[in-house]
Amino acid sequence: METSKITIAVDGFAACGKSTLAKALAKELGYVYVDSGAMYRAVTLYFLDHQIDIQDAMAVDAALDQITIHFENVNGQNQTFLNHVNVEDAIRSMRVSSYVSPVATISAVRKAMVKLQQTMGAKGGIAMDGRDIGTVVFKNAELKLFLTASIEERTRRRLAEWSSKGVLDITKEEVEKNLRTRDHIDSTRADSPLCQADDAIEIDNSLLTPEEQLQFALSLSKEAIEKKSMGLVAS
Ligand code: CDP
Ligand code: CDP
Repeated sequence: METSKITIAVDGFAACGKSTLAKALAKELGYVYVDSGAMYRAVTLYFLDHQIDIQDAMAVDAALDQITIHFENVNGQNQTFLNHVNVEDAIRSMRVSSYVSPVATISAVRKAMVKLQQTMGAKGGIAMDGRDIGTVVFKNAELKLFLTASIEERTRRRLAEWSSKGVLDITKEEVEKNLRTRDHIDSTRADSPLCQADDAIEIDNSLLTPEEQLQFALSLSKEAIEKKSMGLVAS
């Protein structure tokens, strides 16, 4: 029997392990991995660097016309390119993290990103993480996962990432405030708010290691692939 490729949507709050899981699933299954948050971060970097006023709809539209985003595998790592420049480090800065959620409320920005994301996933065989992947981008995804973890654990994880990069001057309070503020803006915005799709499976990974959550999600993926391959689910 030929194996069908499915679409996997991973959504959830900030720093709860979405990218780690989606990336590992894609690797195990031989799928494409897309970090949709990196795309909103790249747009935000452009807006900051070019001092785009996000209240000015014409300036936002003109800026979006100037932006190209793509991903490349560099030394085995998926890296984000903005107008052909590698911005992987720059988009993870606190400068971008502090401004990305307001930028992601703008419908014109969302429309452009969703279009690009849908093009990337048109053939299936993709694992994409974000906030609206199961509710907007791939409403028909065969597997939708919604990750949660306690704010304490998410703060601890993100802080550990900063210190592993040698950044030691960011406080726990700063990280926690950024996560809480983004979660609030992302969940309450008018266009495509972060929420769990009705058919998404919730995974609270506060007490799970990345490997444990991968094994659980992998078994769900295999079930979904089998179902699709047997023609039980319309593609
Ligand atoms: O990795 P982290 O959880 O810190 O965030 P991210 O996935 O890099 O996303 C950064 C921001 O982009 C989020 O806080 C949202 O404001 C926005 N975003 C969005 O609106 N829709 C998506 N599909 C993905 C990200
Ligand atoms: O994509 P998102 O912002 O949701 O989170 P992430 O960047 O995948 O994960 C944030 C950090 O949490 C990473 O350093 C992961 O290794 C770690 N993590 C963990 O410790 N336990 C998990 N079950 C999942 C992620």
